[in-house]
Amino acid sequence: MSWPSLVIGELEVPTPIIQGGMGVGISLNNLASAVTNAGGIGVIAAAAIGLEIWDKVHNLEEADEEVLKREIRLAKEKSFGGPIGVNIMVAVTNYEKKVRAAIDAGADLIISGAGLPLTLPEVTEGENVYLLPIVSSARAAEVVLKRWWHRYRRLPDAFVLEGPLAGGHLGFKEEELREPPDVLEILKELLVVVDRWRIKTGYGIPVIVAGGIYRGWEIKRALEMGASGVQMATRFVATYECDADIAFKEMYVNAKKEDILIIKSPVGMPARALKTPFVERMMAGETVPVRCPYNCLKPCNPKKVPYCIAEALIRAKRGDVENGLFFCGERVYEVDGIYSVKEVFEQLKKEYQREV
Ligand SMILES: Cc1cc2nc3c(=O)[nH]c(=O)nc-3n(C[C@H](O)[C@H](O)[C@H](O)COP(=O)(O)O)c2cc1C
Repeated sequence: MSWPSLVIGELEVPTPIIQGGMGVGISLNNLASAVTNAGGIGVIAAAAIGLEIWDKVHNLEEADEEVLKREIRLAKEKSFGGPIGVNIMVAVTNYEKKVRAAIDAGADLIISGAGLPLTLPEVTEGENVYLLPIVSSARAAEVVLKRWWHRYRRLPDAFVLEGPLAGGHLGFKEEELREPPDVLEILKELLVVVDRWRIKTGYGIPVIVAGGIYRGWEIKRALEMGASGVQMATRFVATYECDADIAFKEMYVNAKKEDILIIKSPVGMPARALKTPFVERMMAGETVPVRCPYNCLKPCNPKKVPYCIAEALIRAKRGDVENGLFFCGERVYEVDGIYSVKEVFEQLKKEYQREV
């Protein structure tokens, strides 16, 4: 049995898989275009993307815009104009400016979490771009729906529902993560809300499930339960095309269950990351003086945080296994080798058909 295509508005891709945006610098043009070429939707992460050229420029705000636009154009070129999404966290400084820059450079979808993108329709008014808020609960989706409909008569083109097993910053409280709820249970609640809005407005909204989806049979299960697709990140890191250093990918291949930690990110949210000497030092209360080039995340107070999260993340991207912060999803311990994106899609398809 073959998997269904993913339809978002007038956009249709043959595979119901969106690759989750991964900052800082983990999902850039190379990974995103490879995923789009394999039949899914590739996504570039905008978070502190300018750090890529920070040593060559003085203004990180300008660097962010320059690199973001460059990466989107390259991804569009390499995927022959195929759909490319951009993940822009609501929490980033100058959120609206970044959204506009992404659209200017040709982004087809804007995917926004780490806060609710309540003003996104206003920023993108008149633009031909799909808007996908990331939510962690049916309640959060309801807030977005009410605001967008009442203010803008607009609905999301799809929701990304991100559960507690995802990588990076999480939309759950630390105590909720001790006994994490099943994302498919949250999906059921969200589908009730979406259905209510379909009856009210006449429009159906596809739901994309994310967080801990690793095997093809899990994609199948999510679709059987009413999702229209999945968003996956962890499984795409250990690919040749992923934009991180080889040492980052090897960290994933070597990771064991006991290496996965929930840390308190300097910006206040819990986050999932691999145990490294750096993380252990920070958890023991050490601090690293912060020389903040600019306040990249709104909730961050550079005077108070124990270390600069953007710099720790870019050290990981560059392969510094001692001093880097390696975000990962809960299923990272299942990564068993480095493959091409095309091979990952083939494996997923086999798993979907349960030929394994
Ligand atoms: C290394 C890494 C970095 C991430 N960075 C971001 C980010 O910048 N913005 C965001 O919204 N989500 C981020 N995420 C979350 C992913 O986009 C995705 O939704 C989630 O990890 C899916 O779960 P999975 O990794 O179990 O497949 C990140 C995840 C990882 C593993």
